[in-house]
Formats: sequence, C-alpha cells, structure tokens
Amino acid sequence: MEVLERTINGKNVKIYIGSGLEMEINRAMEKYSGNITFVSSAIRKIYSKKIRAISSTKSFITDGERAKSMASLNAVFRKLIRMEVERNSSISYIGGGTLGDLTGYAASVYKRGVHYLGIPTTLLAQVDSSIGGKNAINFMNIKNVIGTFYNPEATFSDTDFLLNSDPALLRDGIAEAIKMGLIMDAGLFKYFTENNLESIYCEKRLQYIIKKSTEIKLNVVSDDFFDSKKIRYLLNFGHSIGHALESYTGNAISHGTAVANGMILESYIAYKSGYSGMLHDEIRDAVARYGIPLINFREIETDKLISYMKNDKKVERGKLNMVMLGGNGTAAIGEIEFQQLRRYINLYRDGI
Ligand SMILES: NC(=O)c1ccc[n+]([C@@H]2O[C@H](COP(=O)([O-])OP(=O)(O)OC[C@H]3O[C@@H](n4cnc5c(N)ncnc54)[C@H](O)[C@@H]3O)[C@@H](O)[C@H]2O)c1
Repeated sequence: MEVLERTINGKNVKIYIGSGLEMEINRAMEKYSGNITFVSSAIRKIYSKKIRAISSTKSFITDGERAKSMASLNAVFRKLIRMEVERNSSISYIGGGTLGDLTGYAASVYKRGVHYLGIPTTLLAQVDSSIGGKNAINFMNIKNVIGTFYNPEATFSDTDFLLNSDPALLRDGIAEAIKMGLIMDAGLFKYFTENNLESIYCEKRLQYIIKKSTEIKLNVVSDDFFDSKKIRYLLNFGHSIGHALESYTGNAISHGTAVANGMILESYIAYKSGYSGMLHDEIRDAVARYGIPLINFREIETDKLISYMKNDKKVERGKLNMVMLGGNGTAAIGEIEFQQLRRYINLYRDGI
C-alpha cells in the first residue's frame, strides 16, 4: 500500500493506493460521528464481499452520467435529512467518477460541508476524477455546470475493484493516465509504451500507474486548486478536440477514446505550431497498444468539428487556449486562431 499526503487549500488530504484497503477505510470512518456511503448499484453484486466489509450505513444508487442530475441530488439530500446525518458525520461513495461528482457536491453543501471520503472504483476515477476536489452535476444538458471545489479528507484507490473491470472501462482510465505522462512525466509515458492491456492488468502495475498519475494531479492542483492560474488547464490536454469529438459523434465514443484521439491530433497541432517535434505517431502507437479505437480523421468534417470547439471554455477573444505538448513530459498553454486550427487539422487529414 502507498499513502500520498498533501495539504491542499489548507486541508490535509490523504490518498491510499493498494489492494484490500477495507481496514484503512473503516479506521478513517471511525473518526466521525456517523457515516453514510452511497454505493453504485451496478457493482453491488460484483464486489458484495468487499462492500459488506466496509462498516458504514449504505445507500445503493444508480450511477452513470444520468446520476449527475438535480433528481439524484435531491434523492441524496432526502436520504441525508431522513437519516439525520450530522455535521460531524461523513459522506462517502463507492463507485466511478459520476458518483464521486454527485456525492462530492452533496458533501460540500449539505450543512455547509460535511466530512467526505472517496472510494473510487474505476481506473478513470482512481487516476483522475477522485483527485483534485472538483465536483459537479449536469443541468439543462450542460455538463458539469453546477459544482464546487471540495477535497475529500481521504481517498482509497483500491485496485481490487479494477481486476474484474470491463476492458473498455480500463481503457478510459488508461487514456487519462497516458495524458498525465505526456504532460508531466516522460517516465510514465514510456511505461505505457512498454506495456499493453494484458500486462498492466495486475495489481503491481495498476498501483504504479495510479500512484504516478495521482502524484502528477496532486502537484498540479496544489499549485492551482481553484483553476484560476491556467495551471490546471494542462490537465485538459487532448480534451479540446476530445470534447468536440464526443459532441460530433453524439457521445457514441467513450470519453477515453475521444481524449486519446484528441491527444494525437492536438500533438500534431503542437508540432505544427513549433512547440515540439513530431510526437503524434508515438502517441498513436501507445494508444493502439491498449486497443483504444483510432478515429479516421478523414471521415470527420473539419468545420463541423471546429464548430464544437468554438464553445470550449478555453476560448478567449475568439482564440482557443490549447494545451501544447512540448515533448519529454512537458506542456504549455498556447493560443491558436480557429483559421490556423482548421489549416492544421486539414493538413493532418491529408497526411494520413
Ligand atoms: N471531478 C473531476 O475532476 C472529474 C475529472 C474527470 C472526469 N470526471 C467525471 O467522471 C465521470 C466519468 O467517470 P467514470 O468513467 O468512472 O464513469 P462512471 O462513474 O459512469 O462509471 C462507468 C460505469 O462503470 C460502472 N462501474 C463503476 N465501477 C466499476 C467496477 N469496479 N467494475 C465494473 N463496473 C464499474 C458504473 O456503474 C458505470 O456504469 C464523468 O461524469 C466525468 O465528467 C470528473
């Protein structure tokens, strides 16, 4: 087991990474006057023994993107009030990033903030969404539009939850972890180029990937907790084009697939903009090792793709602030005009 510890925005945050973390979880919960854990109904049967070993009152809840809604939030608040959950109690979750976002928001506003513990169960949640204190629900079809910054006191990334996980779910987490390596840690990216989906499907390697990604995310959010200094922006590498691909395809591709393909094209744009050497082929090979589907950009209409990018939160005065990969685990923010972006995307399509 590894324990990472940081003070972020004045709060001590601990992240436990390993297998069989039930004892640590129970010990953490003992500190509070009560504990309620919202558990993903989808994993209730798969991990019933593990879930039973966690001594908390449990409430089972349907997760997935639809859970990040006012309706689910109301259900959570009703439960907390009916159970007379006190201010010194803690709320926790056992589930993926969607449940983390929903319960994190509830914990941050219920009685103006109660203790919060995270037990993420997808690789994506363990390497990314459970770290950094952002939470949000969707509203009026706008993703993550209502949320707060609120760190859990402790997060328990237990690899036992990953060993029966669907490979498609693992791939989504791998895409985000590859991203962490590309922007901050060349060693982590190299690790991905030397492994494949089969070889990383073991406790030791998963633990390594989670630890490295968690350290990177902790470093970034410690410097820019409230996302106000453009440092957190770096975590958006692959996401400007990735989000546009999700919209373009009507969410027919997974977030990880969108980000992975976004990273390939964005690294080509960084190369054309003079930020780095050619890295896109290396990234494409790394992504393919994990069976992440590659998009044929010749089948994508550039103008339509760009129309989705115009709504990106990182557009300022008509220009897009995009994460430009520098190579060797470095990245910077670069401004790019949409006309230039169109030119580079078309050049990439012509070269395939
Ligand atoms: N707050 C942040 O900083 C942040 C960062 C990145 C992503 N996110 C959010 O995270 C969400 C995506 O998270 P996700 O990919 O974990 O999706 P998810 O929570 O929807 O989980 C995916 C599916 O896997 C199932 N599942 C969960 N754990 C499982 C397990 N161990 N074995 C088998 N099935 C399991 C769930 O029931 C669900 O059907 C998005 O809503 C995204 O916006 C938040």
